[in-house]
Amino acid sequence: TISQSMSNQKVLITAGPTYESIDPVRFIGNHSTGKMGFALAENCLKRGAEVVLVTGPTQCKLSHSRLTRIDVQSANEMYTAVHEHFSGCNGGIFSAAVSDYRPNQIAEQKIKKSQDKMVVEMVKNPDILKSIGAVKKQNQWLVGFALETNDALKYGAEKLKKKNLDLIVVNTLQDKGAGFGFDTNKITLLDFNNKTTKFELTTKKEAAKNILDYLLTIKK
Ligand code: C5P
Repeated sequence: TISQSMSNQKVLITAGPTYESIDPVRFIGNHSTGKMGFALAENCLKRGAEVVLVTGPTQCKLSHSRLTRIDVQSANEMYTAVHEHFSGCNGGIFSAAVSDYRPNQIAEQKIKKSQDKMVVEMVKNPDILKSIGAVKKQNQWLVGFALETNDALKYGAEKLKKKNLDLIVVNTLQDKGAGFGFDTNKITLLDFNNKTTKFELTTKKEAAKNILDYLLTIKK
């Protein structure tokens, strides 16, 4: 059962991977499915919130009268959509797996397989979450994710600070059943008071509920 209402809240959520084009037919992407972000959106809707869901390419489906879905491909497109909508929201949950780099140039024509080796020069994408952390107002809250392979809590704590977050959801790829593609996740929550809360392996839907229950308790 869901106890804490969000009926007076508007929430921005990012989900899924980003696709960074190389040429008109190819891209660099990652294995994110969008499931965690969609589960978070669904849980916010259940609590009565209005949701703006900015998502990269995904198979996930969700429709609701209080949901605005914005489909994007690249990190730059996600950045633009997020900055357009965040100021009108009470808070944001950034679960997208944003590509850290993009090809420096997108070839206008399909690249031919003429050379034995090819090099794609990459440039850094903007850190969308960090840029929102920098402009977030006193009364706005912000949740980020940290997917780590080692020293997860240490890196999580650093990101919480650097990106000016209220809460960070830490998960490691080491846990069985956690991460990309699975319907389950094993999360640890780290809040701005440096309090750590570990959860057992759960479905992503349950993980979403746990994250929001926790957030709404510390933000009361
Ligand atoms: O620094 P790192 O990529 O591990 O941070 C992960 C968190 O930052 C996630 O919440 C992710 O959605 C967000 N992020 C972002 N834009 C980026 C990179 C990460 O919003 N370019």
